[in-house]
Amino acid sequence: MKMSVRRFISKQIKQTFPNNALHTYCKIQTLSNIRLLSSTTASNHKKRNVFRVLDGTISKTSAINNNNANFEKLSKLHEQFSKVASAGGGKKAIERHTIKQKKMLVTERLKHLLDDDADFLELSMFAGLQMEYGDIPRAGIITGIGKVHGKWCLVVANDATVKGGTVYPITLQKQLRAQEIAEQNHLPTVYVIESGGAFLPLQSQIFNDGGRTFYNEAVMSSQGIPQIAIVCGNCTAGGAYVPTMADEAVMIHKKGYIFLGGPPLVQAATGEIVTAEDLGGATLHCSVSGCTDYFAEDEAEALELGRDIIATLNITMNDNTTTISEEPLYDPGELPGLVNTDNQMDIYKVISRITDGSRFHEFKTKFGDTLVTGFAHVHGQLVGVVASNGELTEPAADKGAHFVQMCGERSIPLVFLQNTDGEDSTVTNGLKNGDKLRAQAKLMSVVSTSPVPKITFIVGNGVGPVSYIMGGKAVSPHFLFCWPNAMIGLTEPQVVAQEICASKESLSTEDQAKIYEKCNKESTAFYGASRMWNDGIVLPQDTRQVLRQCLSITRAYRPIQPVQAPVIRM
Ligand code: COA
Repeated sequence: MKMSVRRFISKQIKQTFPNNALHTYCKIQTLSNIRLLSSTTASNHKKRNVFRVLDGTISKTSAINNNNANFEKLSKLHEQFSKVASAGGGKKAIERHTIKQKKMLVTERLKHLLDDDADFLELSMFAGLQMEYGDIPRAGIITGIGKVHGKWCLVVANDATVKGGTVYPITLQKQLRAQEIAEQNHLPTVYVIESGGAFLPLQSQIFNDGGRTFYNEAVMSSQGIPQIAIVCGNCTAGGAYVPTMADEAVMIHKKGYIFLGGPPLVQAATGEIVTAEDLGGATLHCSVSGCTDYFAEDEAEALELGRDIIATLNITMNDNTTTISEEPLYDPGELPGLVNTDNQMDIYKVISRITDGSRFHEFKTKFGDTLVTGFAHVHGQLVGVVASNGELTEPAADKGAHFVQMCGERSIPLVFLQNTDGEDSTVTNGLKNGDKLRAQAKLMSVVSTSPVPKITFIVGNGVGPVSYIMGGKAVSPHFLFCWPNAMIGLTEPQVVAQEICASKESLSTEDQAKIYEKCNKESTAFYGASRMWNDGIVLPQDTRQVLRQCLSITRAYRPIQPVQAPVIRM
C-alpha cells in the first residue's frame, strides 16, 4: 500500500528524533532564533535614538530681523537693570563700608563662601527696583544657590551698603521666597547677615510677615534642613533673631554684633553708656550668652568656618554627575529671533534650541495640539516638557493632565514653557464653555499636586487664569523665570486700560493715554521681577544653562516619592 507523503515524512522524523526530541529541538531552535533576533533588534534599537530630532530650521527673513531688533531693546533694559542692581547702596555707602569699616562687600563674601561663584544661580536680582519707595538695589539682599564643598546650598546675604542691610517690605518677600525654595529643594541654608532689622519708615508693611523668616528657620531645621548663620556686621532687632534661630552660627570679632537695640538706643532709653562689644560682640555671644558658636578673628576665617560647617553636615547629594549630553543642533542664540512683538512663536523651534541634540519624543502629537507635551533631555537629565502652543482647549488640557500624571508617576521633572493668552470670552455655547473649564480644572489639580519639581519659563504671555495652571506662581513651582519679553497680568493690559477708561467719565485723551501707559508698564516682566512675581528674568539664550542648574539643584536632595494613584486617561 502506498504511504502518504505526510505519514512518510512523519515516520522518518520519528526514527531520527525519538521521544519528542524533535519538539525539543525545534523549541531550542526557535528560542535561539528569537534570542538571536531579539539581540539583533536590541542592538539596532540601541543605535536608534528614540528621541527624534526636531526641525528647527529658520530662514533669515525681515520678520526675524525685527524680532531681534525688539530683543536688542529688551537686552539693553536688562543691562540697565543689572547695572542698578549691582551698584549696591552707592559710592558713599560702599566707601564707608569698605574703607572706614574695613568690611568685605557682600559679593566678596560670597566669593569666599562658595566653591565657584560663577556657578551661582542668583535669584530675583531685579527685586526692589523702581518701587514706589525708590530703587532698592537687589532689595538689599542677595539670594541664590551655589555649591559649598560640592553641596548645593541656598544663600541669603544682606547688603549692608543699602541702608544698613535693613529689611524693606520687598526684602522680606525676597527672603521668604528664598526660604521657600530652600524648603522645597531641601537645601542647607546659609545666612550671611548684617542687618539693622526692619526699615522703620515702612514698618507697617513689614509687621504682618515680619517673623516668618524665623518661623521658617525653625520649621526647616525640624525637617532636617540645616540652618547656618555667619554674623558679618551689625545685627539689630529682627536681624538679631536670624543667627540666634540658626542651628550653628559663626561670629566675627570686633565686626559682628548682635543686639536687640544698639548702644545709641540703650542710651536713649536708659541713659546708660555701653560699648557695642560689651552689649553684643563676638566674645560675649561665643563665650557668655551662647547665642553663637564659632569665634572668628576676621571675615575670611568666618566664611571658611561657614564652609567647614557645611562640610560636616550629614547629608549626601543624589548623584549629580551630568551624563554626556549633546548640545542642541540649533543655536540657542537664535531664540530671540523666533519671538515676534506679539509674543507669538513656533514652540517646536524654541524646544529645538533648548533640548539635548534638539531631540524630543512628543506625546499625543495629533491630539489637543495647542499644548505640546513630550519628553526630552536637558544636559542629560530626562524632563517632561509642557509647552503652550495656543489656547488651552478642552483636549489640550486633557492631554496635559494625562501627561503631567505620567511624569509624576515616573518621577520626571516638569518644564513648563508658558505662553498663555486671556480667556476667550466670546464662547457663547454653555456646554463648550463648561467642558473646557472642567478640563482646565483637571490640569490645575494634577499640576498642583504633582510630586515632581516644576520649573517654569514664561517665554511669551503669562496672562489670564491659564497662566496659573501652566506652572504659574499659584502652583508653587520650584523655579519660575521670565523672558524679558514676557507680558504678565490677569488679562491683557489693553483690556484692563479699556475697562478703567470706560468706568470713568469724561477722561481727556491725555489721561486715557496715561492709563494705557501705566497698564502696559505694570504688565512687563521687569515690573513683575521688581515685585517678586518671578524668580528672575532670563535671557532666552541662557534658558538651557539656567535649566541645567535648576535640574541639578532640584535633583540634589530629592527623595523619590512613590505615587499611590494610577495615571487616569482623561
Ligand atoms: N530703618 C531705617 N533706616 C535705617 C535703619 C532702620 N532701622 N537703620 C539704619 N538706617 C539707615 C540710616 O539712617 C543710614 O541712612 P543714610 O545712609 O541715608 O544716612 C543708613 O541706614 C546706614 O546707617 P548708619 O547708622 O549710618 O550705619 P552704621 O553702619 O553705622 O549702622 C545700623 C547700621 C543698622 C547698625 C544702625 O544704623 C542701627 O543700629 N540702626 C537702628 C536699628 C534699629 O533700631 N532697628 C530696629 C528695627 S525694629
